[in-house]
Amino acid sequence: MKTHKIIILASALLPFGPAQGAPSSNVAWTVETHSLVRKGDASIGAKIETVETEDVNACTDCHGKGGAEPDRDKHPTLAGQVAAYTFKQLRDYKDGTRENRRMNEAVERLTNEQLAALAAWYAQQPVPTVEVDADETVSEETLRLVFRGDKKRLIQPCASCHGRNGQGAIIDVPAIAGQNVKYFVETMKDYAGEKRTNDIYSRMRIIAKALSRDEINELAVYYARLGNEQSDGSNQQAAAQ
Ligand code: HEC
Ligand code: HEC
Repeated sequence: MKTHKIIILASALLPFGPAQGAPSSNVAWTVETHSLVRKGDASIGAKIETVETEDVNACTDCHGKGGAEPDRDKHPTLAGQVAAYTFKQLRDYKDGTRENRRMNEAVERLTNEQLAALAAWYAQQPVPTVEVDADETVSEETLRLVFRGDKKRLIQPCASCHGRNGQGAIIDVPAIAGQNVKYFVETMKDYAGEKRTNDIYSRMRIIAKALSRDEINELAVYYARLGNEQSDGSNQQAAAQ
């Protein structure tokens, strides 16, 4: 029947989830974008992070100097992060494709050049140590997810994108070693629950949905410890790019 077909077609086109059919990010990795990020001036970023206005706190109030001392562990560590990743997140907050009221407000007034400057500044900072509960254990099965993935659930190994040391990779794949446990868990839950939808091609949403809560907790602990092993200042991977 003709009408039947039309209904099916219409429902296939209907947007679903909070993204409502909007693109997950407006950032296109064109030559211009790459060159903007590459030219980011870290010394300008160092200044911008301390600026506060009447209605917006300074970045340092929440993330600490150089993004290395978040005032709460729910706030992400930004130090040592891949510059292109940080730039993309800041643009996504500015465009509203990543939603967080405080962050949307924090970047509202900043130009793309200023966002690139901040990204360059954070990339130069050494990865700080983060608190990890010494009692937390990481199972063999979870380690397998890191290096082998799980074919049955179509989970690619984390290391295949984020690097063997969780140091991040081209273009916009973040460093996850050294990230705060609580933020790591929260943001994975946000991907799984479609609250964070700015990952291009749903790369992280698909994976986060396939993981159990326990696996996410253990992965967060694993990567926090991995960062601590590297946080003697030798892990300035992002700066080297
Ligand atoms: C009032 C506290 C607050 C202020 C001020 C603030 N941030 Fe944030 N920032 C947060 C929180 C909370 C998150 C996590 C939000 C989320 O889950 O999307 C975040 C997320 C981020 C992220 C994403 C990190 C990641 O790993 O994906 C970046 C980058 C960032 N902030 C940079 C900045 C910069 C640059 C400024 C200043 C212009 C700033 N923030 C000001 C609280 C703050
Ligand atoms: C196909 C490549 C790919 C694989 C495999 C992958 N990731 Fe990701 N991951 C990404 C990309 C790209 C982003 C950034 C997406 C965005 O812009 O929000 C990301 C973001 C993240 C974030 C958010 C970082 C932050 O600072 O907010 C976490 C945490 C994370 N991944 C953990 C994992 C874990 C754990 C695994 C393995 C179970 C994994 N990823 C596997 C590509 C991948």
